[in-house]
Amino acid sequence: MTNKKLVMITGSTSGLGFELAKLFANDGYDVAMSGSSEKIYASAKEIEKLGVEAYPFQADASTYDGVEQFWDFVKKKKRKLDAAVLNVGISIGGAFLENDLEEELKLIDINIKGTVHMAKRVVQDMVPNKDGNILIVSSVSATLPTPYETVYGPSKSFAFMFAEALREELKETGVNVTAMLPGATNTDFHHNAGMDSTYFGDEKNKNDKTVVAQQGYEALMNKLDHVICGDEATKKEAEENRRTPEDVKAARHAEKAKPKQ
Ligand SMILES: NC(=O)c1ccc[n+]([C@@H]2O[C@H](COP(=O)([O-])OP(=O)(O)OC[C@H]3O[C@@H](n4cnc5c(N)ncnc54)[C@H](OP(=O)(O)O)[C@@H]3O)[C@@H](O)[C@H]2O)c1
Repeated sequence: MTNKKLVMITGSTSGLGFELAKLFANDGYDVAMSGSSEKIYASAKEIEKLGVEAYPFQADASTYDGVEQFWDFVKKKKRKLDAAVLNVGISIGGAFLENDLEEELKLIDINIKGTVHMAKRVVQDMVPNKDGNILIVSSVSATLPTPYETVYGPSKSFAFMFAEALREELKETGVNVTAMLPGATNTDFHHNAGMDSTYFGDEKNKNDKTVVAQQGYEALMNKLDHVICGDEATKKEAEENRRTPEDVKAARHAEKAKPKQ
């Protein structure tokens, strides 16, 4: 038996999930990590260099079995789960008219269905312990319509309101829920979404992933309801989005996300 803390982080091969894994590890947490590629094993080795145990698991978060198998893997450790980061998520750039339906349904399976599925397992595990810390990764995209990523933005609106609702339901249980809303961040995310030829394809238009992860981590540890992650301009944009009509925000986002001719 160990008295070290344990966190599980979905989608932690690279990007924000991996940065968050480093932050937890630096605070002494052992880390259960998932990803769809075999690179998850190398990423876990990197985390172990920080002096903790890392438990990698390769599974596809777009399938019911993939989500369930990662959860079973975590539970087989027979350890108390202290924190959970529901991070895995994808986007798809391009026109809704032309995009592949199967790809869009996969996005919904990962970003919405998988998040609900894993949240169910985590919440039902943590509440009897009267202790736990859950970070749900949403996006500044939750605060506006996102043309040319038309299915993605609403999936992140779901994550934001889901987190806030769950937080309220659980407020007397000892389990905290925090929503993390990053602005555009310099991971492989936009490349993976096929958005290299957009405003978001340019690294200089994005926030630093280490700063974004740090802000999310601190908000979780301070048990905030949500946090906008990124530089001052990102925070200002998210604040202004609350007062800006949806059609105005949609036109602005279309300029940024539409593939350049
Ligand atoms: N980057 C941004 O600009 C930004 C902004 C706002 C919010 N976010 C949110 O932040 C979260 C993380 O994004 P990111 O920027 O870190 O993206 P990323 O660099 O593309 O990383 C995605 C991570 O998810 C894993 N993954 C992808 N598909 C998977 C699948 N089917 N099954 C299991 N794991 C899978 C990847 O590992 P494998 O390669 O091993 O599959 C990788 O670890 C997402 O929820 C995203 O919506 C990102």
